[in-house]
Amino acid sequence: METNAITCTIDRVSGLSEKEFYNKYVKGSLPVIVTDKGEWTKKEKFTTDYFKTNYNHLTRTVNGKTYTLSEIIDLCEASTPENKAPYPNIFDVQRDFPEYLDDIPEMFYGKSNRLQSSLLPDYIAKRTNKRELFFGGKGCSFPTLHIDYLGVHTQLVQIIGEKDFILYSPDQTPCFYPDKIKTNQSPVDITNPDYEKYPLFKNAKAIRTTLKPGEMLFIPSGWWHTTYIHNFNLTYAIDHVNSYNWDTFMEENYLAAKKSHPKIAWIAKVYKVIMGRLFNLKENLFD
Ligand SMILES: [Fe+2]
Repeated sequence: METNAITCTIDRVSGLSEKEFYNKYVKGSLPVIVTDKGEWTKKEKFTTDYFKTNYNHLTRTVNGKTYTLSEIIDLCEASTPENKAPYPNIFDVQRDFPEYLDDIPEMFYGKSNRLQSSLLPDYIAKRTNKRELFFGGKGCSFPTLHIDYLGVHTQLVQIIGEKDFILYSPDQTPCFYPDKIKTNQSPVDITNPDYEKYPLFKNAKAIRTTLKPGEMLFIPSGWWHTTYIHNFNLTYAIDHVNSYNWDTFMEENYLAAKKSHPKIAWIAKVYKVIMGRLFNLKENLFD
């Protein structure tokens, strides 16, 4: 996928310590690719034959049509830019592949993930995507340039195939003309931008990178991104909330609650403060 935006680079590192990860990339709000966190992806359980033999009872509905997992895999293997497989095909690891929970590290960096805590109320937890597998095929791309919902960080590991990521820093948000209702989505088609309608997009500076099998990409909270797939593809993703993006996460929950349950939305504000302090205390003492 070609984009007209100017391109910057991304660090590709190994041997990164938790402290370096937090200080440089989380606090610095910088994406990074880590090359030594994917040994587990080489297991036989992550091959298409294994999925087709053992998990064909799973189905997914994409664009109104329901497919078995074997059908999705076959369509993704046959996909071309002219005749694309349905996308995205997302499976919840906890619900659909519980036997994989021990094989896939819960997270690759970060001592704790507040989304995994039993202290997080169900009504908030169920709004986030926790641990997911995405199947895709050549020519598929994510439908929109977006920020991940509710201000979560995301950690992604490429299991099969290669995937391009096109990333834009949060300070460039005006260049993307966020949708007035779905404020985490941009109407700009970055492959064919309409500069008359979206002139500021000319100034946008992208990081464009290709994630290879076994590599982990960290996308910090608030970064705009989209993807493009070169070949049969399987990616794992986990959402991540820690002390750094807790306030953003709860503020987004408050704004969402204000639309659906205006009378009780204030609870999210109280929870943000009280639970934020408790999480901080717990993480400082025990993590
Ligand atoms: Fe995303």
